[in-house]
Amino acid sequence: MGLGSGLIFLASLATSAGLPQRLSETGLYAEGAPGRIHPQAMTFTPQYPLWSDGTTKRRWLRLPPGTTIDASDADAWKFPPGTRLWKEFSHGRPIETRMIERLPDGSWRFSVYVWNEQGTEAILANENGIAALPAATAPGGKYRILAQADCRACHEAANVPVLGFSALQLSPDRDPMAANAFPMSPADVDLPGLVSRGEIINLSPEFLKHPPRITARTRVERAALGYLHGNCGHCHSRADSDPLVPVDLVLEQRVSAGASSSSDVLASLVDAQGEYRMAGAHALVSPGHPERSTVALRMKTRNPMARMPPLGTAVPDPLGVELIEKWIRDLPPKKEAAP
Ligand code: HEC
Ligand code: HEC
Repeated sequence: MGLGSGLIFLASLATSAGLPQRLSETGLYAEGAPGRIHPQAMTFTPQYPLWSDGTTKRRWLRLPPGTTIDASDADAWKFPPGTRLWKEFSHGRPIETRMIERLPDGSWRFSVYVWNEQGTEAILANENGIAALPAATAPGGKYRILAQADCRACHEAANVPVLGFSALQLSPDRDPMAANAFPMSPADVDLPGLVSRGEIINLSPEFLKHPPRITARTRVERAALGYLHGNCGHCHSRADSDPLVPVDLVLEQRVSAGASSSSDVLASLVDAQGEYRMAGAHALVSPGHPERSTVALRMKTRNPMARMPPLGTAVPDPLGVELIEKWIRDLPPKKEAAP
């Protein structure tokens, strides 16, 4: 073991210290009422969800009493230390609940709790995850629990590690064509709900008058850009100082940038050559031709060296691929270059 990996090992030990062993001890459930969600935990349903091989998900956020979210930066809300978020994954029955938490020093901690067969308790997983957890209801009977480093690859590549609880994701102007989306339940909190509950400060009143919405030429384009934001934009973001993602691709939407947010994404994709050539591809997005577009090819391939996203999923997303291919097929062709 080299010095580097030794240090990483020590760092991961330090970050796991102090995590409760059981999900029931993390503050998600009401005290003395097993299985009942704590009244201070807000449920939410992002409009552009992440594809995770067809699992169904439930999500919650809990702020420490008396604290608020600061929305001064409309695209990178500040969450107070002590904020916890949970996401439960089910294939017929709950399999895992992921948790992220902001610590007093401002850093974020990631953990996973694995449910027992009876669904009565979930236990903290090792930070290295579990490669193939037997799970009868999952595709192929096996389920992968990710390592904490995997969590960070997505969550810490973005401007703020909270990905599904944002102005665009909680906008009441929801996209009816969003792929894999679940409708909001009446208990879910949205942008106006957060404001009226007093859970957020410094949100520009503009976002209540005109709820955030992706600017697009067609309904399909709106949903396609939303899909790319929700599934890819955390790694392929604008503020790309991230050395782990060495490409110029911008797939993230920024509500503070208005319409230029979409034009930046289109400019980085349509007829753009990109860094890496793929067999048969003419551009990252080649109008009219999904079969010549790296973006669609990367979403469909199972080649582990090329597939996108590179982790968190084993099965290509049928609805996501269909939506992106339809969008590319309908794009107006580039003006013929003069001979
Ligand atoms: C492939 C990228 C990716 C990986 C890997 C990943 N996440 Fe996420 N996660 C997301 C995205 C995108 C969302 C928001 C969309 C959604 O929930 O459907 C999200 C949502 C969440 C949420 C709800 C709060 C929020 O940010 O919206 C929690 C909690 C969470 N993830 C925890 C984890 C933990 C813990 C791990 C590692 C075990 C992990 N995630 C791995 C992309 C990822
Ligand atoms: C966990 C972070 C992560 C996520 C999530 C992710 N990517 Fe990537 N992407 C990368 C990295 C790293 C590279 C560069 C290495 C490589 O080519 O595989 C890359 C490269 C690419 C490229 C090649 C760009 C070029 O210039 O050649 C395309 C296209 C791409 N990603 C599309 C997507 C799409 C579409 C999604 C969502 C469906 C997505 N990515 C999600 C990390 C990510």
